[in-house]
Amino acid sequence: MATVSVQHAGIQESLDGSAALAFLTDHGVRYEYWDVSLADRALRDRATLTDEEKSALIAPFMSSLNRLAHDYGYISHDLIVLNREATANLDELLVNFQREHHHLEDEVRFILAGEGVFTLTRDGDTFSVLVTPGDLISVPAKTRHWFTLTHRLNVKAIRLFQTEGGWQAIYQAEGPLT
Ligand SMILES: [Fe+2]
Repeated sequence: MATVSVQHAGIQESLDGSAALAFLTDHGVRYEYWDVSLADRALRDRATLTDEEKSALIAPFMSSLNRLAHDYGYISHDLIVLNREATANLDELLVNFQREHHHLEDEVRFILAGEGVFTLTRDGDTFSVLVTPGDLISVPAKTRHWFTLTHRLNVKAIRLFQTEGGWQAIYQAEGPLT
């Protein structure tokens, strides 16, 4: 289960388990937990992956991905791999990820390996969500957010997309979004 950190009146509160799930649900953030052990361990741990290996990592989750596609209209998915060995422009990407932005569609990520932190502003709260293997999170469309890796600088995540271009980051906030 993801861990949620939220600041209220200058006090930082950490939520996990059912409290974290309740908080995310209350704030319109969909969360699911999928069993990553369905995917080959050696592939999950490998720094760099061929396209074939990426497909093999995704394959055990196709029924779950198809369910989400049916329920929420996702038209495509891929596997993103971020680490020093696999990602030549990692520093540049991280700078962009850390700039607050929003998208016109949900940002859906299922974490297969590694970890990362989404920070969202929604319903008057700013909160961070630490996602680790097994966590699926959906940042709602038009929700201002940013993403960072942890000091481990490693994540493998399946991404789902609702449109061809909806994933593009919009850095400028224009009026009330949600
Ligand atoms: Fe984003």
